[in-house]
Amino acid sequence: MSLVERVPADAVARYTRTAMLFHWLIAAAVFTVIGMGLYMTSPPITPLRFRVYNWHKWLGVCLLLATILRLAWRIRHAPPPTGRVMRSLEVLAARAVHFLLYALCFLVPLSGWAYTSAEGRPVVLFGRFPLPDFVPVNPALAEVLKVTHHWLAWTLSALILLHIAAALKHRFIDRDGVLARMLPSFSFRKSA
Ligand code: HEM
Ligand code: HEM
Repeated sequence: MSLVERVPADAVARYTRTAMLFHWLIAAAVFTVIGMGLYMTSPPITPLRFRVYNWHKWLGVCLLLATILRLAWRIRHAPPPTGRVMRSLEVLAARAVHFLLYALCFLVPLSGWAYTSAEGRPVVLFGRFPLPDFVPVNPALAEVLKVTHHWLAWTLSALILLHIAAALKHRFIDRDGVLARMLPSFSFRKSA
């Protein structure tokens, strides 16, 4: 039996609409950028893959900007209180994972950008706006940054899986209102 009382989904404090908008827009962008990364790096090289390469970089840079905006907003807006929905250990674990997700949404695109700069292929956003290079062209450094981008992207993917597993555990095993905190109020009215 759960140590925490089951709390109906419509009784929990939800994130604000702005927080949800940031969360779901960035989540959709992250899934798309990861999908593009996997597609474009698998053989054979085709003109479509080449175009996806550019879109991967552009969407990745937009994601970096969105994360900066989200963090700037988040500093002034605390999440809603968890009340009795989660145990204190769960709250601690969730905070640690959320912190790492934020950090990686910042570091993964930054490492990708640094990698293309070091390779000598600067980012031209949407083919129109050249972005500055913040590392020098250097093949040895490019190799290190490529591996860094790869591993950071995989760490982000693993954490997202953990994050989703936790959300689904709350929804289907604990049957508390944690998932509902990040969903618009109409989503769970009947089922929880
Ligand atoms: C959150 C944003 C991003 C995510 C989640 C992401 C994820 C990925 C993934 C999964 C791959 C395939 C990886 C592999 O196994 O090596 C990849 C490759 C790549 N990414 Fe990103 N990326 C992001 C942002 C960026 C940005 C902003 C740039 C550049 C401006 C970039 C440039 C590249 C390049 C050039 C590759 C190909 C590396 C190779 O040739 O092996 N990425 N990325
Ligand atoms: C790329 C994917 C995702 C990323 C990067 C991400 C990131 C985050 C972050 C950073 C937070 C903390 C928000 C804050 O307090 O400032 C959060 C909260 C949350 N996310 Fe995600 N998320 C992703 C996908 C998902 C998915 C697919 C689900 C559902 C299956 C989900 C469910 C939740 C829930 C329920 C919360 C609120 C947890 C709580 O009440 O403490 N997330 N997410």
